[in-house]
Amino acid sequence: MYSKIIGTGSYLPNEAVTNDELAARLAKDGVETSDEWIRSRTGIEQRYLASPNQTSSDLALFAAQNALEMAEVLPSEIDLIIVATTSPDMTFPSTACLLQAKIGADNAAAFDVQAVCSGFVYALTTADAMIRAGQAKKVLVVGSEVFSRMLDWKDRTSCVLFGDGAGAVVLEASEEAGILASRIHSNGRLSSILNVSSSIQGGKVVGNPFMYMDGQAVFKNAVSALGDVAQEVLDAANMSAEQLDWLIPHQANLRIIAATAKRLDFPMEKVVVTVNQHGNTSAASVPLAFDTAVRDGRISKGQTVLVQGVGGGFTWGANLFRF
Ligand SMILES: CC(C)(COP(=O)(O)OP(=O)(O)OC[C@H]1O[C@@H](n2cnc3c(N)ncnc32)[C@H](O)[C@@H]1OP(=O)(O)O)[C@@H](O)C(=O)NCCC(=O)NCCS
Repeated sequence: MYSKIIGTGSYLPNEAVTNDELAARLAKDGVETSDEWIRSRTGIEQRYLASPNQTSSDLALFAAQNALEMAEVLPSEIDLIIVATTSPDMTFPSTACLLQAKIGADNAAAFDVQAVCSGFVYALTTADAMIRAGQAKKVLVVGSEVFSRMLDWKDRTSCVLFGDGAGAVVLEASEEAGILASRIHSNGRLSSILNVSSSIQGGKVVGNPFMYMDGQAVFKNAVSALGDVAQEVLDAANMSAEQLDWLIPHQANLRIIAATAKRLDFPMEKVVVTVNQHGNTSAASVPLAFDTAVRDGRISKGQTVLVQGVGGGFTWGANLFRF
């Protein structure tokens, strides 16, 4: 028994903000940056920002509807919803439960996965395990973020990197090969290099409510984690990188993506890159990139795809599948 992806979807908020526009906004608060700096260090050209009244479950709803439509599956047929998010609507209930109500998937169990930018890979791995264990037959997996809410717009080293968005897939139990191998990892000892360290205590936010990042430490750990885990899933499926049609790494930084491809000796023409258009959308980045490449005709049915995530925790992981 395999789990197979039968539909993909994504959603971006209306407001696209180019590097020049962002630089002009930040300049009003005395924060200096430029299109040249952002582009040359990260490859990012623009990002999308949610409007103040849009939540992660709102973005997730549109992405999920697109994926269900492609899969030709009704919300009532879904028996499990997993949402990967670091920017949930509420402390509880989960964003997955809120999405369940919005989409009308009344027969589904629903829960969130919190693995920051690896969230989608963690959620897909969990969904695959649930299907193969006979616990679910049709699963909706969504990565959705309004990450911009956690950014310190006075910290130019981090605020220029992120954006908002959502991506989704529908998985189905199948006898035909789908997900071939998955691996997930964590190293909590690296929690200090990337975090939002605040919590709510006695009705107050205690600690730093904004994202903190040690950019160089994240960069170094991301490149080695992504290279290693790609090889792990290839080995688990008894495959080599030459047999892959597409590599979809977490869309954080073009230089991390290029370094990962180089470590695998994999041509950049077969790497899906959307970070230039979307920025880093955390748990949404992989499904957003995947859906973009499916809908623009790059990825087609029957092709072999390796997706990978890396981020706060520190967490990382990969899934190898036949689409
Ligand atoms: C953040 C990142 C782009 C910074 O690039 P870097 O080459 O390491 O740059 P540094 O932090 O050394 O900063 C170099 C200079 O640029 C400046 N700088 C930082 N951000 C800037 C910005 N947005 N605009 C202009 N200048 C900036 C710094 O102040 C520093 O200036 P100084 O030399 O006068 O002190 C890079 O470390 C990175 O991409 N890390 C990974 C981040 C990531 O992907 N996180 C999410 C993972 S899930």
